[in-house]
This record gives sequence, C-alpha cells and structure tokens, in this order.
Amino acid sequence: MGRSARAFDPGRRANPGGSGRAQDPEAAAGGGVASTADPPRGTLGEAALFALLTLLPWGITGCGGGLPPLKEEEAARVVEVAEPVAAALTRSLLGRLAAALEEGGPAQAAEFCSREALRLTAQVQDSVGGGLVLKRTSFRYRNPANAPDPAEEEALRYFEEGIRRGAGARPAHYVQRFSEDEFRYYKPLFVAELCTGCHGHPETFSPELRQVLADRYPGDLATGYEVGQLRGVLRVSVPAARIKP
Ligand code: HEC
Repeated sequence: MGRSARAFDPGRRANPGGSGRAQDPEAAAGGGVASTADPPRGTLGEAALFALLTLLPWGITGCGGGLPPLKEEEAARVVEVAEPVAAALTRSLLGRLAAALEEGGPAQAAEFCSREALRLTAQVQDSVGGGLVLKRTSFRYRNPANAPDPAEEEALRYFEEGIRRGAGARPAHYVQRFSEDEFRYYKPLFVAELCTGCHGHPETFSPELRQVLADRYPGDLATGYEVGQLRGVLRVSVPAARIKP
C-alpha cells in the first residue's frame, strides 16, 4: 500500500477520543488500526510491535505516513456531507434498476445496468458538484472498472471484520483520511432479495441473463451471493476544502 489512511467510525464509539484509541485489539481493528483481530504469533518482537501499534493513539493502517490523524470533528463533517450524496446515488440506481426490471426482466435490466450504471453514477456526481467523487466497488466485482484500490480494500475489510464479529457491531460507515486533500466515506451495500436476480446463484438465472453476463463480463466475480451478505461499498470522496468550517 503506497498510502496511509486514518479511519474513524462514530458509529462504534468504544473510544471517545478518536480512532483506534483502543486498549483491546478488537476495538482497535474497528477503528482502522489493525486489519485483523488475530493476535500475531511468532517472535516477541512482533508481539511488542503489535502492542505498540494497538496502543498508539491513531495507529498505522498504511505504509505511507506523514498524514495528520483523522479528527473526530472531521469525520463527523465528512459523514454529514457524504451521507446524503450516497443516499441520492442509491435512490437513483435502485429506481432505474427497478424500472428496468419491471419493463424487461433481468436479462434486459442487466444490459441496462451494464450500459448505464457508471453513467448514472457520473450524473449524480456532476449534479452534486463540489469535487465529490462517487464509486461503487467490491472484492468480487463484476465490472473490472469497479475494482477496488488499496484504500477501498481497507474499507471492505473493515466491514467484513465488523460483520464477522456479529450483528451488534455491524458498522454503518467508514471514514478515511485518504490524502492531504481528500477524505473518503464508505457505505456498505448489502444483498437484498432483488439483487440475487443478478448476483445470486447462476443456476437460478435464465439462459438469457447468463448469456448477457457471459458476453459482457467474462471474468464476472459477482455471483453466488445470498440475501444479507456484503455485496460491496459505495465510496464518496470529499475534498478537504469541503469540510472546512
Ligand atoms: C438486473 C441485474 C442486476 C441487479 C438486479 C443488480 N445488479 Fe448489481 N450489477 C449488475 C451489473 C450488470 C453490474 C456491472 C455494471 C456496473 O454496475 O458497473 C453490477 C454491478 C454492481 C456493483 C459494482 C461492483 C461490481 O460488481 O462491478 C455493485 C456494488 C452492485 N452491482 C450491487 C448491487 C446491489 C446491492 C443490488 C441489489 C440492490 C444489485 N447490484 C442488483 C447487475 C445487477
């Protein structure tokens, strides 16, 4: 990873002073400090380093460094700016998807998504303006144009971890300081019944839908999902200038 990110989740306020101010590795992982809850094995050196990382006020999640820590007020402002934008994109995509499904069934709707999803995303981004950038991504992506970058992978792992730890800890969002000029907000996207029509088990798909997907996405990773699983994340990049008081 060539950059460093600081994470903070106001939804999981085990440690009021900020991200990763945690005494236990579990809570620290939730604050973006450690990417795994498994205690490290091996040398005393590793154990000492792990303890140090967990106890550091802000932790280290990347390899870069030099970025100031993400402050609680900044994270709150990022959420304030990004949340309505994420909701607007979800509304727009879901509305169009539902209409396309009703009109032509899954195969045609999949063609529609394939043609229009990125264009609709760009449209919402343009209408919001202010330098905000929108993207949907997943470890198991269908469209290679949606593949995650390392900072997005960190966010995806954060949600996977949260879900693995139990429903009570299911995080609502994740905030990173991506660079001097950019914060990132991530919202998890879960699989609903509707989604399994095109992201469920391929045996349940019509031959037409299978054909559309095979033609357009020969390397499709986005099938085999069940209701309730994490499908991916929606990212909203927020320029630092946007959250200045
Ligand atoms: C009619 C078929 C169809 C349905 C139903 C559908 N999708 Fe997709 N989905 C696609 C196609 C096609 C793509 C690839 C094109 C794109 O969006 O960039 C895609 C891409 C995605 C992506 C971007 C990452 C990737 O895999 O490329 C996410 C996230 C996603 N879908 C989530 C969902 C969710 C959540 C639902 C249910 C609310 C859903 N989809 C329902 C067809 C569908």
